[in-house]
Amino acid sequence: MTEPVSFVIFGASGDLSRRKLIPALYHLFLKNRLSQEFKIFGVATRPWTEDDFRTVSHDSLKELNNITVDETSWAEFAKRLTYHPGNFNDPTTYQAIAEMMKAKDTPCCNRIYYLATPPEYFLEIVTGLAENGLLEQENGWRRVVIEKPFGTSLETAQTLNASLHRVLDESQVYRIDHYLGKETVQNILVARFANAIFEPLWNRNYIDSVQITVAETVGVETRGKYYDNAGVVRDMFQNHLLQLLTLVAMEPTSSYKADALRDEKMKVISAIRPIPASEALETTVLGQYRGYTAEPNVSPDSKTPTFAAMRLFVDNWRWQGVPFYLRSGKKMSEKVSEIIVQFKTVPHRIFPNQVNFEASSNLFSMCLQPDEGINFRFEVKVPGTSTDTKSVEMNFHYKDEFGANALPDAYERLLLDVTLGDASLFTRADQTELSWQLIDPILAGWNAPGAPAPAIYEPGSWGPDESVRLLDKDQCSWIQVCGDRCK
Ligand code: BG6
Repeated sequence: MTEPVSFVIFGASGDLSRRKLIPALYHLFLKNRLSQEFKIFGVATRPWTEDDFRTVSHDSLKELNNITVDETSWAEFAKRLTYHPGNFNDPTTYQAIAEMMKAKDTPCCNRIYYLATPPEYFLEIVTGLAENGLLEQENGWRRVVIEKPFGTSLETAQTLNASLHRVLDESQVYRIDHYLGKETVQNILVARFANAIFEPLWNRNYIDSVQITVAETVGVETRGKYYDNAGVVRDMFQNHLLQLLTLVAMEPTSSYKADALRDEKMKVISAIRPIPASEALETTVLGQYRGYTAEPNVSPDSKTPTFAAMRLFVDNWRWQGVPFYLRSGKKMSEKVSEIIVQFKTVPHRIFPNQVNFEASSNLFSMCLQPDEGINFRFEVKVPGTSTDTKSVEMNFHYKDEFGANALPDAYERLLLDVTLGDASLFTRADQTELSWQLIDPILAGWNAPGAPAPAIYEPGSWGPDESVRLLDKDQCSWIQVCGDRCK
């Protein structure tokens, strides 16, 4: 159970609030994880009444999230919902919020301001809060949660961080990367550091390469306006994929504390070999799905990539020379997020009938979604033969061990952690900046005069052929373990 807390959600009538935040808070309420004293204040431009906010929130649980609502508990939950219509660029909005909080935010005074708005409002909102005394911590703590995108480049991220730090201490800022809230992502560190068997092998002596795939079957849907300015590299690599890489590559910490974890992640990102603009075309691939330019709110001659693949190296003692292959795209053949650690083949072949010797390396695959689990591929003897071998898999599925609905949505964990003041699963200012520092030159290379447009790929494929060729150069190929094969 947490301390009493009030959530003030800016953008409360939007998609994120209806699809993620309200359902997560409702589940936390049902599980009795929040203090009885919690409240939710919605602020958005839509001219809703408090009743509208309650009704839309209620209906969204069923319609958007397929949640069966228990009406008695909903009635209790709904009592805690309040709404204020207002523009984020209007100073009177913040005066009204201050009044509303004075009248209704009793007896509690701990507050979480959740910025579920387009990024152009982040600074305006934080400034409005500061100017109206809404960030003062005299009678309770104040925390601000910021959704991605956090900047669009190193420069914009630095400006945003500097502006936030003028009115907030870094410890009050919670930058969301919802991948970190996924149970299977947290399980990467558990798999690595709660088991003794992996750590001795987890280095360049035994690991050949690491592949990280985050593939989606959907296109840009209704988000064309945002996406066409962002593209897959900003949307997925600067945050989610780099976070995954750091969890695979980081050193063990001495404790599971926010700064200890974040310090180790920073060391990994600092060690990633930069890709200068002049080399971007060689070691990265960009693609765009056929039909993207006809999507709503997308420019008809858009060169925005919806697929990217890249090869990165972590220049430190543990990982020297081990390629990390990353790829992510929309309209791919399957929805799957997976990390595959490919071990080296045994140093000497003693079984003459070992077929496909080169392809027999052990694979440790962490399936992040949708078939959450872990798969391990290893060699066994084929019965009745003298020394024939075959690759087989040992599989662990979360749903078999913990039940079909055991995995809470990432936002439940993240919202609870903000309430508890635990920033372990949030991105620190320095990490956002360092990630942009890596990404900026890659984008500069692709945006340079004369650079080719992203390669067109067919919806339902695994991206452009160039992605296959990127690994061909290293005599390697993309592997998929999760998905159909392990169901
Ligand atoms: C978001 C991106 O951060 O992650 C989206 O903005 C993407 O473009 C989404 O679709 C993917 O998240 P998940 O949890 O479905 O893998």
